[in-house]
Amino acid sequence: MLDELLKCAKEAALLAGGIIKEGFGTSFKIENKEGKNNLVTEYDKLSEEAIINKITSFFPDHKFLAEESGKSGFQNSDNIRWLIDPLDGTVNFAHQLPIFSVSIAAELNKELLVGVIYNPILDELFYAKKGGGAFMNDSRISVSSTSSLDTSFLVTGFPYNVDKDPGYCVEQFISIIRRGIPIRRLGSAALDLAYVANGRFDGFWEIELKPWDVAAGVLLVREAGGLVTQYNNEHYWVEDLSMLATNGKIHEEISATLQSCFIELSNGN
Ligand code: IPD
Ligand code: CA
Ligand code: CA
Repeated sequence: MLDELLKCAKEAALLAGGIIKEGFGTSFKIENKEGKNNLVTEYDKLSEEAIINKITSFFPDHKFLAEESGKSGFQNSDNIRWLIDPLDGTVNFAHQLPIFSVSIAAELNKELLVGVIYNPILDELFYAKKGGGAFMNDSRISVSSTSSLDTSFLVTGFPYNVDKDPGYCVEQFISIIRRGIPIRRLGSAALDLAYVANGRFDGFWEIELKPWDVAAGVLLVREAGGLVTQYNNEHYWVEDLSMLATNGKIHEEISATLQSCFIELSNGN
């Protein structure tokens, strides 16, 4: 069953990646979903439609939680649920910056079964199945071996309501960058996680991510030997508010730093 799910997820990601790659750099319709900068393009929608059609052709009874169309499929059963981000990095895509991906995962009863992230520009296909390790383009991948926060290479992201500084995310960023640690902000949470899984980054954190942003990446990081928790080091599920994903070795140090900033600020220090 896992192999069939993975085959389906890979086919869907490659198909959708082809669609958004074709649209990249052309003139297309861009709308604002909410606030000032939460964009959606016609390619987000085309990609999502292609993914759902592909999955339905394999598994007509499965259910979906997809970013643009919401919940659909056979909801009132124990059926597998697909978590779909048809274009992660829409703001980059809309500004012709070639950093974006397709992210597809399947879960059952809060257990991630398969996950696929595809970057169509670099033709990098990341995938994992539960208990089967993590891969990029058919080569096994694993997290980095960096063991101290001060020599780490990190990535983070900010939610669309960053102007409200939810969870003191701006101060947390400052507290780490002030130490002289290089931090990137790529704009695709799925790629951030894929790059922790293959060791390009040592760690990634972000608040208020959605299940479709992270589901595939969380499985990838875990199957590549890394650790994913909430900021406070507690068990993480894709609906939780905060997420910290690392190679495992720097996890406690970064978790303590993120928390101390939160605690200090909530005490008014
Ligand atoms: C966004 C990206 C970004 C992250 C945001 C997400 P979208 O997803 O993953 O890196 O910082 O929190 O919402 O809107 O491009 O699918
Ligand atoms: Ca997203
Ligand atoms: Ca998206």
